[in-house]
This record gives sequence, structure tokens and C-alpha cells, in this order.
Amino acid sequence: MPMPEASAPTMRAVVQRAYGPPAILRVESAPRPVPAARDAVVRVCAAPVQQGDWHLLRGLPYLLRLLGFGLRRPRRAVPGQYAAGIVEAVGAEVTDLRAGDRVLGSCAGAWAEHALAPADHWVAIPAQVSFEQAAALPHGGLAALQALRDAGRLAPGQRVLVHGASGAVGALAVQIAKVHGARVTATSRAHRLDEVRGLGADEVRDGTRDGALGTAEHDLLVDTVGDRPLAALRRALAPGGRAVLVSGGTGRWLGGMHRVLLAALGSLPRRTKLAPFVAAPRTADLRELLALCAAGRIVARVDRSFPLAAIGDAFRRLESRDARGTIVVTP
Ligand SMILES: NC(=O)c1ccc[n+]([C@@H]2O[C@H](COP(=O)([O-])OP(=O)(O)OC[C@H]3O[C@@H](n4cnc5c(N)ncnc54)[C@H](OP(=O)(O)O)[C@@H]3O)[C@@H](O)[C@H]2O)c1
Repeated sequence: MPMPEASAPTMRAVVQRAYGPPAILRVESAPRPVPAARDAVVRVCAAPVQQGDWHLLRGLPYLLRLLGFGLRRPRRAVPGQYAAGIVEAVGAEVTDLRAGDRVLGSCAGAWAEHALAPADHWVAIPAQVSFEQAAALPHGGLAALQALRDAGRLAPGQRVLVHGASGAVGALAVQIAKVHGARVTATSRAHRLDEVRGLGADEVRDGTRDGALGTAEHDLLVDTVGDRPLAALRRALAPGGRAVLVSGGTGRWLGGMHRVLLAALGSLPRRTKLAPFVAAPRTADLRELLALCAAGRIVARVDRSFPLAAIGDAFRRLESRDARGTIVVTP
């Protein structure tokens, strides 16, 4: 990152110059972004720290580095993929956003006092939704919505199994599946079954038990855990059913890509399908999630807020696996 000129406006931002543990992150002075004609700059009020950020911090799996995120160090010096905040400045050609609007969007460099994105990446946050609640939506919400609706082809009345329903993606998948009229079975570890029942699941199961996924029962299975062999996922599906692999699995090199490929190839000749999945930062879907949240039909739980300077603590909390909901930073 170039050093700011003496007179150029600056801001505080988290800076990452290498891949590694949370301790490599520094809060430094950085140039404040300036909007081009179709951009908007937002004063960040809350930004999530999520599972995907962990991969970008560590540079794992290595496949990710080959996919354009930076071979030896991250391509983007200021991390953070989503921000909720207040529009501060817009480019000359932007007509549908004004300074002072409350917005959520995908952007480059969300862990800073100001974040820049094309104006059409930002969507209005309804008055009923706080900045922190809005920031908690994209990670779990986009994956849950797109896994159910797009990869899973969810239809009303279907029997849906959400494996790993206590997590960020799973908790929203249960709620969104209920909004769409599904009958939902949800798994979690035994000590979180009440929490998962409270999300509206019709039935809950201890997902660590053998056979918890069942046999020939579900029209749609959303797997956010990735702990079962592909054959067990297939066995759980009713004829014609689909399993969506939200969690591809683990692996330092390929991050479970081999599992995803096996799933896709194995599905070609069969009636049950195992669908690979990658969530996309779609603005229309953010708008839909915010509307559901404003109407009280879904809740994205916020675990804890950390000031920007405590970004390392935010990551340590993520790595502890004790978080109950999304971790956010508030510059
Ligand atoms: N493909 C994509 O585009 C995409 C998008 C978002 C996320 N993801 C991936 O999806 C996965 C889930 O993400 P997340 O943010 O929701 O993670 P998360 O919050 O850690 O959720 C996983 C949940 O599964 C629970 N769990 C673990 N083992 C279980 C078992 N045997 N049975 C039932 N529940 C179990 C965990 O409970 P404990 O905490 O009690 O262990 C945790 O609540 C991650 O691998 C993430 O990388 C992929």
C-alpha cells in the first residue's frame, strides 16, 4: 500500500501485508478512498469477521492463492468483504444514493473507517435494522438463501434437513426454509439442540450421532458441517433429492475441492444429486435478506462487537469456535 501524501485525507484501517496468524494484522493510517463516477464511499459502522476472512488471513487452502487472491501476500492490503454504514460521498454519475443513507454492501476494504464500492453494490438498510444486525446478515444469509433457493431448488412443502443448524449459515438456513414453507429437520451438537429448536425447526437431532441424517428422508439437505462421507449424504436423500455442499470439507491444499468434484461426478448418473456450492455477493439477495430481517421473519445473531483496534481479538474469538452468531468490528 502506498504511503499517504502529507495533505491527502487519511483514515484508520486494518492492514494485512502477509498471510499468517491474527497477530500480523495492524491498524494503520491509510489513504481515504475517493469515489470514481459510479462509486460510493461509506463511513463504516459495522463490518463482519467471518469464516471466509479466516481463509484470506491464513492464505488457506493454497488453491485460494492461485485463484487470484495473491500468491505470496494478499492482493488487497485492507481486508473485510462487507460493510454496513452511512453514505458519505458519491461519484458524479450516482443518482440513487445520497450522503446520509444507511446502507449495506459488498466492498473492498471493509475493516476501515471508510469503504469504497460501486454504488450498485450498496442497498438501503431498513430503519428497523441496526448496523450490527445488517452486518451479521451477508455471510450466513447469502449462503443460506442461495444454497436453499438456487443450488437446492427449494419448493414449499419439501422436507429439508439442515446439518449444522447452530452455525451462522445453518441458523439462517433453518429460518429461511421455514419462511419458504418447508418442513425442517435440524442437527446440532447435543448442548445446542434447544437453541436450534428456537429457530423454528420442526425436529432436532444430535448431529454427532451415527445415523442422525437418516435414510431416504429428505428432499433437500444443506450440509454446513462437511463431516460425513458423500455416501451418507446420498443415503439421507429421498428419491430425486438434492444435497448442497455448503461446507466443502477441509484440506490445506485444495480445501475439500476433491470432495466437491467427486460429488459432482458421482451425481451424473444418479437421481439424487450432490450439488457443489459457492455463495455470491448478490445485491438483490442482500436486499431480500434485509427485508426479511426488518419484517422480523429472520434474525441474524450478533455474537460480539470489537473495536477496529481489537481485530486480532475478533479473529481469536472466531478461531475459538465459541462464538454464538456473527462477530463484527465497529470502527
Ligand atoms: N461455499 C460457500 O460459499 C460458503 C459460504 C459460507 C460458509 N461456507 C462454509 O460453510 C461452513 C459453515 O459456515 P458457518 O459460518 O456457518 O460455520 P459455523 O458457524 O462454525 O457453523 C458450523 C456449525 O456446525 C456445528 N457442528 C459441528 N459439528 C457438527 C455435527 N457433527 N453435527 C451438527 N452440527 C455440528 C458447529 O457447532 P459447534 O460450534 O458447537 O462445533 C457450528 O455451529 C464452513 O465450512 C464455511 O467455510 C461456505
